[in-house]
Amino acid sequence: MVGSVAYNRPLLHEGSRVVSNVKRLVCGFGLVLVAVGAVGDSVPAGTVADIEDRTRPFGELCLEGDDCGGVGDAPAAVQVVERTGSEIYAKHCQVCHLGGLNNAPKFGDAEAWEPRLAKGMDELFRNTKEGFNNGTMPPMGTCMDCTDAELRAALEYTIGASGDDG
Ligand code: HEC
Repeated sequence: MVGSVAYNRPLLHEGSRVVSNVKRLVCGFGLVLVAVGAVGDSVPAGTVADIEDRTRPFGELCLEGDDCGGVGDAPAAVQVVERTGSEIYAKHCQVCHLGGLNNAPKFGDAEAWEPRLAKGMDELFRNTKEGFNNGTMPPMGTCMDCTDAELRAALEYTIGASGDDG
């Protein structure tokens, strides 16, 4: 049996050398992993910004007047549809012109309008826009957000209707 022991020793020895080789391999592999990890930490420039870009909240608040990157820029004033003369008359002018408040020429009263019409449309429009007789006829007829075109339509409606009804 002594002989077999003597025979076994180099085998064991061989075995431990294999183990230590495996250890070295694993160890080396570990080092490689650590090295890869280190490389992974130093991300190329721009990547962080890219990620922030992709993970940004879906809806961002864009206030009126802000530069929102051209997407849905809020216009300063929105005038979607031009209003008609009769709409503006009903909302702003008839308060005074229906009943003749402060001697306002009445809607439908041809006689009252005749001397006014004699001034010509340009002057009537100017008096509508800037006001007339120290504000008895208020500037813009109180339609402060009226465009020139809307105000002229309201003026023409008031005059035209008065001719039709009178
Ligand atoms: C607060 C009352 C009031 C409102 C609102 C008003 N008007 Fe008048 N308007 C008057 C009075 C009063 C006069 C007469 C002024 C005068 O001749 O002394 C007048 C006169 C006018 C005249 C004649 C001006 C001239 O040169 O003789 C025109 C045109 C006119 N209004 C158009 C309008 C239109 C269009 C609106 C609506 C957009 C409007 N007005 C809203 C009170 C008003």
